[in-house]
Amino acid sequence: MLGLNEPDAGFRFDLNTRHSGLHRAMGALIICEDVWKVYQLGDVEVQALRGVSLQIERGEFVAVMGASGSGKSTLMNLLGCLDRPTRGTYWLDGRDVGRASQDELAELRSREIGFVFQNFNLVPRTSALENAQLPLCYWGLPLREQRARAAAALARVGLNGRDQHYPSQLSGGQQQRVAIARALVSSPSILLADEPTGNLDTESSREIMEVLTRLNREDGLTVLVVTHETQIATYAAREILVKDGQIVSDRVTAGAPAGRS
Ligand SMILES: Nc1ncnc2c1ncn2[C@@H]1O[C@H](COP(=O)(O)OP(=O)(O)OP(=O)(O)O)[C@@H](O)[C@H]1O
Ligand SMILES: [Mg+2]
Repeated sequence: MLGLNEPDAGFRFDLNTRHSGLHRAMGALIICEDVWKVYQLGDVEVQALRGVSLQIERGEFVAVMGASGSGKSTLMNLLGCLDRPTRGTYWLDGRDVGRASQDELAELRSREIGFVFQNFNLVPRTSALENAQLPLCYWGLPLREQRARAAAALARVGLNGRDQHYPSQLSGGQQQRVAIARALVSSPSILLADEPTGNLDTESSREIMEVLTRLNREDGLTVLVVTHETQIATYAAREILVKDGQIVSDRVTAGAPAGRS
């Protein structure tokens, strides 16, 4: 569970060994090696990520913390294949994301990644079931199977009986659970949640974190959560602190205390 940036990780890649077969054999789901993301805004260069090296194993539950503007969302967008590094390498399940074409990136995203955002991003005037079903519409599955998968995902997040509700008829916490169901419906390897409790009250936040904990513990889902709140971060078993585009601390934490999930 050591991050590559830790001095005692004792683990560096030789350029000649960077091929996908090796990384798949090594088993880590995420490997970033000296990843940079530089935005060019006119004459101004914004270095949003400055040499991030990171390794995340399958089944980990990681909290990403850091001040506003430190690069947390940029990191999540890269890990989620929404974007490619400016420099450095990112292997997702042994695949070199930096070398993937736009089509391959989209395919990787739809098969491997589930996203959850602060604002839920649900489609209004569309039922919970149809919202959860949305990612499957390009898969060519029979409609009946799409609905069955969406219903199962809603049940998994504790929303039985709410299939036909519109987002406006659901509480914030319930809407976020629909968003989690939508992220789960394609059976991704990783769930990336960028401040998923940022718009929620304490009780709904606790419910959302308990759902994520269950998915991690019972289904083995790899979960990364960006948060500003220390209390939310305590659900994770590992805490990464980002500052000015760099990982400045990467430590194992206790995870959710027994009886809380
Ligand atoms: N598309 C973009 N174009 C130019 N600069 C960007 C872009 N996206 C992010 N940045 C800059 O990169 C830096 C990191 O931004 P990022 O959104 O990753 O921060 P964050 O840690 O998620 O902050 P917050 O906690 O406020 O969400 C900031 O300086 C930001 O202004
Ligand atoms: Mg952000």
